Amino acid sequence: MHTILPVWNIVRCKFKLFCRFIVHKLKAKSKRGHGVHSPFVYNLIVNVFRDRKKHEPFAGIEDVRKMLISSGDTIKVNDMGAGSVFFKGDERAVSRIVRYSSTSRKKGELLYRLARYFGAKKILELGTSLGLGSMYLAAVSEDAEVWSIEGCPELAATAVKNISDAGFGNIRIIEGSFEEVLPSVIERMERVDFVFFDGDHRKQSLLWQFEQCLGKSTGETVFVFDDIHWSDEMEEAWSEITSHEKVTISIDLFICGIVFFRKGLPRQKFVLKY
Ligand SMILES: C[S@@+](CC[C@H](N)C(=O)[O-])C[C@H]1O[C@@H](n2cnc3c(N)ncnc32)[C@H](O)[C@@H]1O
Repeated sequence: MHTILPVWNIVRCKFKLFCRFIVHKLKAKSKRGHGVHSPFVYNLIVNVFRDRKKHEPFAGIEDVRKMLISSGDTIKVNDMGAGSVFFKGDERAVSRIVRYSSTSRKKGELLYRLARYFGAKKILELGTSLGLGSMYLAAVSEDAEVWSIEGCPELAATAVKNISDAGFGNIRIIEGSFEEVLPSVIERMERVDFVFFDGDHRKQSLLWQFEQCLGKSTGETVFVFDDIHWSDEMEEAWSEITSHEKVTISIDLFICGIVFFRKGLPRQKFVLKY
């Protein structure tokens, strides 16, 4: 019974996600930008979403991923977010954390291209895990500074080591729960150009993080939300965020959602294939 329940949870969760994916596919406009009449979004499709170039820093970051996947280490994790259907207990293999909760190569490359396209310099990540997403964001430019918050002490310590081994000098890991440390991090940051929300997948927590980050956002800021279709709560949070009075353009790529606060653009919600 003990093994059947987690397997059943995984199957149910994956099935729900698959159904949401089909709904998204039916609603989404083509990857080529056909039918997208906003020049801002069309340029984004051409220059960011359809850019498949292997930029120079990617290989080094993927070497770190390979090293972590082949590691036999385990970590004691205190799960602070919505929990995981893939893990039971608090002792987790690093190789499994990489597979099930780290930013994938595809998403990492997207984060890099987005942050680079918009010239982001003050970057914030909520949820560091092993540091792969932080590295993609930090690789954008040596002048960029990445602040990344992680609530699990062992994960934070491992991320610090991974980041230093990979030679990144522009990432600060802040250990602590978002509730404890986000307000002071926001206060210390001059502004936020780019925020990657990839931590607590509960609706109220995500909406709170969003409001906190709005405090230092500008008209040029980009927010990226991971896993917007992961659960009913995440879909509800995404819907509230995209309807916020300050949000002008939102883009649902299924694997993540992106919002912009640019003035002078008509308010529009896009659903695009990616
Ligand atoms: C999906 S993982 C992040 C993956 C990471 N961004 C990457 O690029 O690989 C989510 C992380 O958020 C952390 N987290 C979840 N809820 C949190 C909270 N309330 N405060 C601090 N950290 C939290 C978890 O410990 C976990 O490591």
